[in-house]
Amino acid sequence: MIGCGYLGAVHSACLARLGHEVVGVDVDESKVAALGAGRATFHEPGLDDLLAASGDRLRFSTSVGDAADARVHFIAVGTPQSRDGAAADLSHVEAAVDGLLPVLGPGHLVVGKSTVPVGTAQRLAERVESRGARLAWNPEFLREGFAVADTLRPDRLVYGVRGGDDESVALLDEVHASALAAGTPRIVTDFATAELVKTAANAFLATKISFINAMAEIAEVTGADVATLADAIGLDERIGRRFLNAGIGFGGGCLPKDIRAFRARAVELGVGESLAFLDHVDQINRRRRQRVVDLLDFELGGLRGRRIAVLGLAFKPDSDDVRDSPALEVARRLTDAGAFVSATDPEAVPTARRLLPQLDYTESVREAVAGADAIVVVTEWKAFRELDPREVASWTDARVIVDARNCLDPAPWRAAGFTYRGLGRH
Ligand code: UDX
Repeated sequence: MIGCGYLGAVHSACLARLGHEVVGVDVDESKVAALGAGRATFHEPGLDDLLAASGDRLRFSTSVGDAADARVHFIAVGTPQSRDGAAADLSHVEAAVDGLLPVLGPGHLVVGKSTVPVGTAQRLAERVESRGARLAWNPEFLREGFAVADTLRPDRLVYGVRGGDDESVALLDEVHASALAAGTPRIVTDFATAELVKTAANAFLATKISFINAMAEIAEVTGADVATLADAIGLDERIGRRFLNAGIGFGGGCLPKDIRAFRARAVELGVGESLAFLDHVDQINRRRRQRVVDLLDFELGGLRGRRIAVLGLAFKPDSDDVRDSPALEVARRLTDAGAFVSATDPEAVPTARRLLPQLDYTESVREAVAGADAIVVVTEWKAFRELDPREVASWTDARVIVDARNCLDPAPWRAAGFTYRGLGRH
């Protein structure tokens, strides 16, 4: 497994759990040391247990040479947004494939899992084939917070291979034998389709979220309630209720950068118009972050000198990931506007502190809200959803709560004396 970040670490542990012998390779020595000692370098439910239980089936190394006798080489390195634009930065993928070339030979299979612009696999295949090895593209759909379960029991397997490459399909089937035996649907297709399945799925999910957030904007000027609207349209089986939670929008290491890279790739291919709507999806998403700041500004009659308790830092619950986190962005905009921010999160305080040291981080909600003028819930952790409004009222004089995830029941908060403001609801 080349790359032991989110994807690679989870996959390594899961493949070892399924009985395969796995070597995880990463250039980051501290990551390799931590994983080798049975500790993940990020918070993911169930992962530490898997690492601890994997025994000698799982090793980690900084040298690709230690994976020389492997038959299947997964590429699971990151494809972040490039520094100078919207396109994906493929330098880690290129380096991973180049690093592998010396250990490849006939009978070896290189399997791309990283999210890449369509056309990448075709280009990499030529290099891999020059060594007598083969390439397949096997995109990954795991969600943070559910990564172990999603990997052990995926909802589909997609193999992108050269036409007629039955050998690679058979080898991938061996790797995924357990999921296939459990009835997981498997789609065998060409490289381009396999690459596109991943980017299209993420573009669709992002669009679904921005669609309901656009409805929230309409609800805000008409007095309608977007949560009820989502329930009602979601009962139509063709639409479905999932991913229709209006709020502060999407963040994280995938959706935002993937829609930008997809749009940039379409422009390169001369069909930019086909994905022009993704620019709007992105814009709606960014507007929601400002809407939360504006609501606080309005309710407090200005932000300068005010103290605001920010509950949540991770981009979603059950994760300590703060990449492109809407929560962090709101906290940053509040401090930029002259407010003091006290922030807390069950897992993400250490990762957030590295990016935004100027916040006043606390261990508990009670400490965060003490002395605050307003409270904003920006990540829907269970611990925040289950707060008792009367108890919170006894900890603070703040009487404004902004529910940026629409995850609280307004009635008990209002009954406890709070001015409750959700997004797209009244
Ligand atoms: C996503 C895809 O779901 C996954 O298939 C892909 O492999 C990687 O990207 P992830 O980034 O872990 O996974 O998070 P996801 O659960 O998809 O949520 C993304 C963002 O959308 C989060 O910030 C979440 O809070 C937000 N979201 C989700 C909403 O705002 N509303 C919703 O209804 C659902």
